[in-house]
Amino acid sequence: MKLSIILAVNGVFAMMLGLGPGHGLAETGSAANGKTIYGTHCLPCHGSTGEGNGPAAPMLDKPPANLVGEDVRGDSDKELLQIIRNGVPGTPMPPWKENLSAQHIRDVLAYIRSLAQ
Ligand code: HEC
Repeated sequence: MKLSIILAVNGVFAMMLGLGPGHGLAETGSAANGKTIYGTHCLPCHGSTGEGNGPAAPMLDKPPANLVGEDVRGDSDKELLQIIRNGVPGTPMPPWKENLSAQHIRDVLAYIRSLAQ
């Protein structure tokens, strides 16, 4: 009885941290909201299809990542949220944590996941 309560509580924490199988954080984001955010902030570099061919891409000294390719599909939500928050230092990928709330970052990730389907 006690044990099952502890297990249940652990499960909830694991879900909140995005550790539970099939309980990625992207599932707590809204792809519909994410689409608007993506269109404003990400599309110029990553492109409307997420393939990294946005209008600003040719001007960058490093190509934007293909967000719908195998690499990103294989990355966990946790890893991608980290990258979106902090950017990729030494590349044109900027950190977004100052400009987007944690929820908006989850929304945009949900949208990226929906593009990759
Ligand atoms: C100024 C151009 C630019 C903008 C704007 C931009 N990115 Fe990027 N992004 C890049 C580049 C360049 C890379 C590749 C960095 C590298 O070489 O590792 C990248 C990489 C990434 C990656 C890592 C993919 C991987 O391979 O793991 C993610 C995720 C990502 N961007 C998401 C976003 C999201 C979400 C937004 C909008 C909120 C955004 N980016 C806006 C240029 C941009």
